[in-house]
Amino acid sequence: MQACQERVESALDAWLPAASKLPVRLHQAMRYGVLGGGKRLRPLLTYAAGHILGIPLVVLDGPACAVEFIHAYSLIHDDLPAMDNDELRRGKPTCHLAYDEATAILAGDALQTLAFYVLAHDHTIAVPAENRLAMIETLASASGSCGMVGGQAIDLAAVGQKLDIPGLENMHIHKTGALIRASIRLATLAKAALDASIVDRLDHYAKCIGLAFQIQDDVLDEESDTQTLGKTQGKDRDNNKPSYPALLGLAGAKQKALELYQDAMDSLDIFAGEADLLRSLSLFIVQRQH
Ligand code: IPE
Ligand code: IPE
Ligand code: MG
Ligand code: MG
Ligand code: MG
Repeated sequence: MQACQERVESALDAWLPAASKLPVRLHQAMRYGVLGGGKRLRPLLTYAAGHILGIPLVVLDGPACAVEFIHAYSLIHDDLPAMDNDELRRGKPTCHLAYDEATAILAGDALQTLAFYVLAHDHTIAVPAENRLAMIETLASASGSCGMVGGQAIDLAAVGQKLDIPGLENMHIHKTGALIRASIRLATLAKAALDASIVDRLDHYAKCIGLAFQIQDDVLDEESDTQTLGKTQGKDRDNNKPSYPALLGLAGAKQKALELYQDAMDSLDIFAGEADLLRSLSLFIVQRQH
């Protein structure tokens, strides 16, 4: 896992415009929002799913970076005053505080388009053109109004409201699950031809682990501390956000995450040792403390 984290860190660095390139402030803000922090879970999922399929790491670097650029942009915008109004991210002041609001908005915008540039341009993604197009389509729909952005809209509209469990699940599946699902899907698209049943298994895995991931995020928001999290603890409660702990209690939320983890594990049972990396990553996702 650490080797993959280091690998994606240098790939992200290489794709980002240099800090000295004009417009300097924008490029510095983009680099600030992406580099030097973050667990890189989405790239790790891409690499781990690719490992199952025997895909060379070099083919996965582009898709891994693309999904992380979308994620980093979503965090910069999520922290803006008009959204969650957060001051701390990955243990540092949020992008709009380190720079300014307009620069943070533009840095997010530019990271989003950089993600699609990488998928369209990266020559090391050695796949047929239709697979590359499907990667672009997958990331676009996972990121847009029927994916992550749609989920963020539901999240903002739900402030102060009481969602029921299906409503909350729908919000989480969109705002967080969609991008996690895309991380796995991009790996399967990096293989020229793949049995549909394998794609379905991995997609089911991704749906379950994506929801488990956001439930754990809600649990940590409730019970961890700001220092460990590197972001402000208690923000969901302060902002009156519907969350799994608010609806099910902490124990109920943890139980739900564990059930989803088990469901995710079951869908990997057709694989042998080649899925062990993905299995340990999944355990980390539900047991992580930050
Ligand atoms: C936090 O994601 C935001 C959510 C979608 C819940 P991560 O916990 O993956 O954040 P980083 O990338 O490690 O900072
Ligand atoms: C954010 O969810 C999901 C995104 C699309 C960024 P949260 O608002 O719960 O994420 P954190 O807790 O601020 O990282
Ligand atoms: Mg939010
Ligand atoms: Mg937030
Ligand atoms: Mg959160």
